[in-house]
Amino acid sequence: MDKIIIQGGKPLYGTVSMSGAKNASLPLLAATLLVPGRHALHNVPDLRDTRTMLKLLETLGARWERDGGTVYIDTRYLNRAEAPYELVKTMRASVLVLGPLISRTGYARVSLPGGCAIGARPINFHLRGFEQLGAVITLDQGYVEAAIKGRLQGSVVYFDTPSVTGTENILMASVSAEGTTVIKNAAREPEIGNLVDMLTSMGARIEGRGSDCLAVHGVRELRPAEATIIPDRIETGTYLLAVAATGGKVTITDCRPAHLPALVEKLRSAGVHIEEQETTLAVSCPADPAGPVRRLRSVDIRTMPYPGFPTDLQAQFMALMIQADGSSIIHETIFENRFMHVAELQRLGADIKIDGSSAIVRGRPQHELCGAQVMATDLRASAGLVIAGLAASGTTEVSRIYHLERGYENMVAKMQALGADIRKIRE
Ligand code: EPZ
Repeated sequence: MDKIIIQGGKPLYGTVSMSGAKNASLPLLAATLLVPGRHALHNVPDLRDTRTMLKLLETLGARWERDGGTVYIDTRYLNRAEAPYELVKTMRASVLVLGPLISRTGYARVSLPGGCAIGARPINFHLRGFEQLGAVITLDQGYVEAAIKGRLQGSVVYFDTPSVTGTENILMASVSAEGTTVIKNAAREPEIGNLVDMLTSMGARIEGRGSDCLAVHGVRELRPAEATIIPDRIETGTYLLAVAATGGKVTITDCRPAHLPALVEKLRSAGVHIEEQETTLAVSCPADPAGPVRRLRSVDIRTMPYPGFPTDLQAQFMALMIQADGSSIIHETIFENRFMHVAELQRLGADIKIDGSSAIVRGRPQHELCGAQVMATDLRASAGLVIAGLAASGTTEVSRIYHLERGYENMVAKMQALGADIRKIRE
């Protein structure tokens, strides 16, 4: 397995460009199954997870080819409607093929995703939504089967809590249903707006984009898509936090600051200088005229569905707060086990106490954080460990970085270009 070696303590300077969003690419790739044809998706990042989704589409009979950031997908000839356990266990977002397959073929068989490091992450809201649209759901040897004779029937689908992929699955299932489907308490993440725009370009009729109530008027005809993936807001937040943690001054391009309202607010409260334009962010940490970078102020956060503070930036924010001036309370409300990075950060000298779904972080001066060997446990935890390693003095080795490569395109190269002393080695 590969690992990353970091010599920390170096401020980041320069310009870095963001890639397309992983969490928009996955539903938009799945949506190409809705209608036979040749689709084109632009700005698709080349990640472990997008490669897994493309492999899944291929398993179902689709053909694809990549030309730089554009992926062309031919879904004219599907010869299977089953997402096998071997693929689903490596990426739970494989469940996103359920909606388009039921809509197009009236049948889908997908392995239940099973547990995940950060929480149980059931898909009961997805399945209940499909049932409300008239599908018959059965569980069989770890697989969920969804079937319907004829077209799905529009209905009201209410989510107990906003679910990102749940909203996406029901959206894709309902675009060709008979009548109107109303999705209530829908998730409002920007990736859903990206999917709504793609479905609309295919001929779908959807009202309420960006709100928590979506109305989908079923249509009989859809056409192949040409769509562009939005910039990755979680990648953007990760680089913002890396600059804040190491000091320096960086311009982030090809991003959408408007998709990060909560993080930008919290970083400004902590004392980070951020200037926003429509597709760029300039971020810098004020150096203290008397000496090293002035310590930032401690700030509390509470993860919430969009537009609240994203749970996918919680670990990275904690990696900043471990060196802030004061104590920060980090409350995780979305997943029940998303503090596995805490034990690893403590190995670098961080002072963190977990109390239920909160972590109390007592900031220590940056020079008191020392590099160490740490282990990535999940995608965003590994990003937090990289940030902490970039800030800590000495050498940090992050193992099991296949987690990181699921969701960050060329992170080592991008960080090197900003002056970080970081490299990947094969163990
Ligand atoms: C999406 O996961 C993202 N993944 C996650 O990003 C992200 O952390 C999460 O949304 C929350 O923002 C993709 O978009 C591919 P949810 P998703 O359904 O859709 C509970 C990353 O690092 N729930 O919004 O699976 C669930 O347990 C990944 O890029 C049910 O109980 O998350 C959680 O507590 C990690 N039943 C809450 O709702 C359901 O049927 C929100 O989950 C569905 C969800």
